[in-house]
Amino acid sequence: MQREHWGSRVGFILAAAGSAVGLGNIWKFPYLVGAEGGGAFLIVYIAFLIAIGLCVMIAEISLGRQAQANPFRAFKRVGGTSWSVFGFLAVLTAFLILSFYSVVGGWTIAYVVKTITGGFAGYSGAEFESHFGALVSNAIEPIVYHAAFMALGVVIVINGISGGIEKASKIMMPLLFILLALLVVRSLTLEGAMAGVEYFLLPDWSHLDANMVAAALGQAFFTLSLGMGALITYGSYLGKKESVPNAALWVVGLDLLVAVLAGFLILPAVFAFNMDPGAGPGLTFITLPAIFAELPFGQFIQLCFFLLLFVAAITSAISLLQVVVAFICEEFKVSRQVTTIWVAFVIFLVGVPSSLALGVWGDVTLFELNIFDFLGYITDNYFLPLGAIATCLVAGWVGFEKFAADITNQGERPFVYLTVWKWMCRVVAPAAIAWVMIHSIFFS
Ligand code: PHE
Repeated sequence: MQREHWGSRVGFILAAAGSAVGLGNIWKFPYLVGAEGGGAFLIVYIAFLIAIGLCVMIAEISLGRQAQANPFRAFKRVGGTSWSVFGFLAVLTAFLILSFYSVVGGWTIAYVVKTITGGFAGYSGAEFESHFGALVSNAIEPIVYHAAFMALGVVIVINGISGGIEKASKIMMPLLFILLALLVVRSLTLEGAMAGVEYFLLPDWSHLDANMVAAALGQAFFTLSLGMGALITYGSYLGKKESVPNAALWVVGLDLLVAVLAGFLILPAVFAFNMDPGAGPGLTFITLPAIFAELPFGQFIQLCFFLLLFVAAITSAISLLQVVVAFICEEFKVSRQVTTIWVAFVIFLVGVPSSLALGVWGDVTLFELNIFDFLGYITDNYFLPLGAIATCLVAGWVGFEKFAADITNQGERPFVYLTVWKWMCRVVAPAAIAWVMIHSIFFS
């Protein structure tokens, strides 16, 4: 059977950018920059994004494209049988991350629904706080929304690559940019917004230490969706004529643009209202709604914001779902429709304990972490870095000739940085990732 391909280059770029742009950009990035030294963090982060993130992304997309197969088979074809365990690990990572990512995705739907139905009218700051606590710790409501989120993922993925994921990305990514632009303008025109801009951009080099560097590299990986097979899978539907480095550069650029815009959206608003920028997870679900409630047309602004979060989350979620679906379809020869429904159902079930962990199952712990935090911890600190290191080693050492041929489109499109890329993959990127892995497991 002929493998399905993206309908266009733009379609691929938007889908891959959709995967990259997620809760990591809008929720985590602004808050990390604020906490880790503003402009100083930004500079280190951008350096990693380009030097290491871009190289690994080129390797992942190229690995998928050469093999025209899911991550498990791609590692096997390009690296040999013993490397296929890393492909399997990538599929497992996507599976586990989606199980709890979808729980958070469900919260964004809950907020959209509640804003539309006027459920937040007249809420004060404290009420937003108790509402968020009550929502996430409830035993049923967040699970219903988690199911709704997975169901929406199914509706998109079941229609395939160009008819499902690409089509959805072509509608949702422009929508994301429109919502973001609207909100940034509103935030920057608030009185006192400049203090937030300064906090965001002024470099404070006293923060430059191992923790900051590790946080910057970790965030660069997570935000680009590296290490979990998403870009290997998306790359596997890419045609032979496209330029991989060029597409990867676009994806990195769009991801960075959204992160910076999210900084210009969130920090000025937080400063204009004298709120705490380091509020962590509560920032998006508690602090911001409280701010919006104070503004004229606050409900509308709030709706735009939670729609933005939802769009960012669902376009990332479908890339994870597709990793697992592609693996099962291809390895077990099951139809895409049946696979999509069953995989989503199982991921939903696996996500239920993560949701309960924030409420009734809060006491159930693994290595002193509740289930939600435990899954985040092992995937972030072990699985993602291992997957990324394996990709670099396969690209730089084991299969370099094949990668070089693929990246230059069989010599038709010379890639001037090929030698730099090779050494980044061989030594620099694996060493940097291994260092962050050791640092975050033992020293933080
Ligand atoms: N890159 C996404 C973000 O920034 C997160 C993500 C991770 C998405 C893994 C897909 C796969 O939020």
